[in-house]
Amino acid sequence: MTILVTGGNGQLGRAMRLASAESRHRYIFTDIEELNIVSAEAIEAFFSREGVDVVVNCAAYTAVNLAEDEESIADNINHRAVALLAEACKHHNATLIHISTDYIFDGKATTPYAEESSPAPINAYGRTKWAGEQAVAESGCRAIILRTQWLYSEFGRNFLKTMLTLFASRDEVRVVADQIGTPTYAGDLAEAICAIIEEGKIEECGTYHYSNLGECSWYDFAAEIARVSGCDKCKVAPCTTAEYPTKATRPQYSVLDKSKFMATFDTSIPEWRESLAKCIKRLNNQ
Ligand SMILES: NC(=O)c1ccc[n+]([C@@H]2O[C@H](COP(=O)([O-])OP(=O)(O)OC[C@H]3O[C@@H](n4cnc5c(N)ncnc54)[C@H](OP(=O)(O)O)[C@@H]3O)[C@@H](O)[C@H]2O)c1
Repeated sequence: MTILVTGGNGQLGRAMRLASAESRHRYIFTDIEELNIVSAEAIEAFFSREGVDVVVNCAAYTAVNLAEDEESIADNINHRAVALLAEACKHHNATLIHISTDYIFDGKATTPYAEESSPAPINAYGRTKWAGEQAVAESGCRAIILRTQWLYSEFGRNFLKTMLTLFASRDEVRVVADQIGTPTYAGDLAEAICAIIEEGKIEECGTYHYSNLGECSWYDFAAEIARVSGCDKCKVAPCTTAEYPTKATRPQYSVLDKSKFMATFDTSIPEWRESLAKCIKRLNNQ
């Protein structure tokens, strides 16, 4: 099979490069220079030229705060371009594996969100991602939508790398303790996506939740990063969302229920602390 990975220079895209390295399939990685997904003509030309069987759409507009001021730009990438990819998949009989987010939920729940929980995004980024999901459904293409959250990895800019930088330069870092979710190692998600492809399970269309197991606050996440990385010079202190306002409102609670993913794909998912330790070890070996 030929597998197109869009957004191939992003953090999930780069994790996909590693996870697929030993595959017997042909993976083609593109980013905006090679394939701008907002262009229907470029998508059509790529599909016709390469004979795409599966698209893993890792391309996205992910600047959550900036999206408040640039919602139409975010919508163009997270919604309209996704509609174009889905239409191309439908036309060329390909399967779309699309990545979405916990930010489609309002965060008012107190127990993990199931796939059928009602979306009610509370920020612009979430609205555009939810519109993207709906466009996939409306296209009628074969699709697997994977909603994930709090992605971090060795690659790109993310919370783990920001904390490591701050720990090295500050005496104290204050981190919000009243937003609950689950940190997710992009390497685990990439391996899970590749396993779906390698094990021939791309027929299992539908929406699934994938994050690491367990739950914590951003403060807990930061404290665990400090502990595992052996940082003892910088104090990690809790604060409230009200004390650390951001342009985009974040869901207060967005833990995802992963039972459908584990049952359908007959797999387990690592606990978040275990994966964090694995990622920090890989970072230290770079
Ligand atoms: N990061 C998280 O915490 C998180 C949480 C939940 C869900 N997700 C979802 O997970 C997926 C992967 O996220 P990520 O963290 O890997 O994002 P990322 O690091 O921002 O990567 C996205 C990639 O897409 C590229 N891109 C942007 N516009 C494009 C276009 N028009 N055509 C082709 N490529 C384009 C970006 O290029 P530029 O950098 O040049 O713009 C970037 O390389 C996304 O769908 C995201 O919504 C992420």
